[in-house]
Amino acid sequence: MNFTRSDFPDGFLFAAATSAYQIEGHGFGGAGRTHWDDFAATPGNVLRGDHGAIACDHYHRYEDDLDLMEGMGLDAYRFSTSWARVLPEGRGQPNPQGLDFYDRLVDAMLERNLKPMATLYHWELPSTLADLGGWRNPDLPKWFADYTRVIMDRIGDRLYSVAPVNEPWCVGWLSHFLGQHAPGVRDIRATAHAMHHILCAHGRAVEVLRDLNISNVGAVCNFEYAHPATQSAADIKAAALYDGYYNRFFIGGLFKGAYPENVMQGLEPHMPKGWQDDFPLIGQKLDWLGLNYYTCKRISANTEAWPSHSEVEGPLDKTQMGWEIHPEGLHHFLTWVSQTHTGDLPLYVTENGMANPDVLATADTPRMDYLNQHLDAARRAIADGAPLKGYTFWSLLDNYEWALGYEKRFGLVHVDFETLERTPKASYHALSKALKA
Ligand code: FCB
Repeated sequence: MNFTRSDFPDGFLFAAATSAYQIEGHGFGGAGRTHWDDFAATPGNVLRGDHGAIACDHYHRYEDDLDLMEGMGLDAYRFSTSWARVLPEGRGQPNPQGLDFYDRLVDAMLERNLKPMATLYHWELPSTLADLGGWRNPDLPKWFADYTRVIMDRIGDRLYSVAPVNEPWCVGWLSHFLGQHAPGVRDIRATAHAMHHILCAHGRAVEVLRDLNISNVGAVCNFEYAHPATQSAADIKAAALYDGYYNRFFIGGLFKGAYPENVMQGLEPHMPKGWQDDFPLIGQKLDWLGLNYYTCKRISANTEAWPSHSEVEGPLDKTQMGWEIHPEGLHHFLTWVSQTHTGDLPLYVTENGMANPDVLATADTPRMDYLNQHLDAARRAIADGAPLKGYTFWSLLDNYEWALGYEKRFGLVHVDFETLERTPKASYHALSKALKA
């Protein structure tokens, strides 16, 4: 790698991230069924019908996985807890095995000097709540608050940081407008409701966390740089709209008490009743913002229904996801968000990394190049005044990449999905050297 720890400010945290459904093995330990199990069981939704019943079997192998992070010299681990593992029916009776699991997991992190960074919702909604309309239902935020209390009562005393929700854009737009993630809905009214309710859920959870005196509470949003496909006025307007519902909607709610105007031109008629009154709940004071960043898009206007645009292919090198590699976008968002929304609030890169069709013993140079370029961008953002306090690699392990199943490999550690054997890739070793230098 072209950096060492000393190139970053004192106390800067390096972490790796995973999420519950993507690695744990949801068939184990009394976890309830989730809408991802249902989505995957419906043909055409997920590559090869892959699901998370075994995943990386992290449920049984977590100590080895934490050893890998300790061995690499990481400071922190961003993990998530599964609502359906904690409350198999979504509400009511907790699953003691689930609570015990997260209890052991947090203790095992602390034994290895890994700071636990928890996320409470990384997308595996209990099926029973999906039956009630999922994020379209205005009662979901209240039930999310109840779940927050149950899990935080058990592990909240030992966490470094907590974020209620991972990537509200994916919960709202990707899952209810594009239909690419569970529950696979394509409906503008469902989208508007889900986008707003997920922010209300965030707010309800923050209330519970404050009530429990849990500190270092934040939010994690994802960002994609939006280029107009051409310099035509129509494409420029289309890219601004993409930027609006992707990059500005959620931080608008969290930090400005308002949604972007160009987005509301399309969504306003579909919003849940009384949405304007929820901003005090949504916009409660936070201690940090996490940014997940991977790529950019090229947006071209079309004549279809709102938002009247489509994505076109761009010229830059691409990862296994087909995502263009655009590190400049990371610099842009880190500096822009602090200048326009968050001021001095600490920022973290909470996810960044790339998928590569890795075979074992690969040189892994594309991943090292990608990480070098993005860590450079992060360093430049710090030099330009962004209060960036940490950087998280997605992901520790090759894992269940949602609708793309087990094919897309994001890990610093290779996983053989037949034997579940873990083998650190060259990027793992290179990062380890940089972090220990
Ligand atoms: C993010 C998700 C994460 C993973 C990466 C590649 O949007 O938070 O679970 O799928 O993308």
